[in-house]
Amino acid sequence: MLYYLKLIIKYFSSFFKLRTVEAVITYPILKSKTFSSIKKSKKFQNTKGVRDYVIEKFHDSAIDFYEFGVHRGDSISKFSKRLTNIQNTFTGFDSFEGLPNVYNHPSLKKGYFSTEGQLPKIDDKRVKFIKGFFNTKKKEIIEELDKSKNTKLIHFDSDIYSSTLYVLFILDNYAPYYAIFDQFGGDEARALYSYLVSTDKKTEILATSYEDNFSISPGVTFMRIY
Ligand SMILES: C[S@@+](CC[C@H](N)C(=O)[O-])C[C@H]1O[C@@H](n2cnc3c(N)ncnc32)[C@H](O)[C@@H]1O
Repeated sequence: MLYYLKLIIKYFSSFFKLRTVEAVITYPILKSKTFSSIKKSKKFQNTKGVRDYVIEKFHDSAIDFYEFGVHRGDSISKFSKRLTNIQNTFTGFDSFEGLPNVYNHPSLKKGYFSTEGQLPKIDDKRVKFIKGFFNTKKKEIIEELDKSKNTKLIHFDSDIYSSTLYVLFILDNYAPYYAIFDQFGGDEARALYSYLVSTDKKTEILATSYEDNFSISPGVTFMRIY
């Protein structure tokens, strides 16, 4: 059954944008009671709109920003440039060897996003990186989270279900925290759903952007997990 479903997804994803296919699969989850707060959340037309909203919210407070999925450091660099409080910290976790096993993902492959071990160069003492697959860096991730004294803002940008879910469970003891999911229309939403239904945690979705004209597939989505 699952085999045929995957074949169908593969077939359709060659005709339609993958995001659209993912959105259709994820639609029932996004419409579930678990994510009902999405209805009341602020809607923006693009990533910039949501990011501006987040920057505005945290502009005057001290935050500890943790990014799971750094790649070349584009987003962590943008956030660190705009969140200028000297007490802020920015910690990025990535293998820098690309994705781990993706388990039949219709478009992504193991090793995709590799920077061949190169870490981004960001000239800001508040920014640091920890290299390694998340499951091999559990101790280091916990050490970094334990140091946190400020409001925690987590940027989930590892793209795949398994990586997102792993990090959500590590963060379980650190709720409440704020979270940004970079692509909430697919794997990331399904991972959050699996986490929420396995724990007593909840989410309040505060802002989102849509990737399509029919408001089906959420892109960057900002929320509080508590
Ligand atoms: C979409 S890219 C991140 C994009 C980045 N935030 C930016 O600003 O361009 C996804 C990243 O997640 C990383 N990643 C995914 N799963 C991982 C895991 N389990 N352990 C370590 N890194 C992982 C990949 O290596 C990749 O660099």
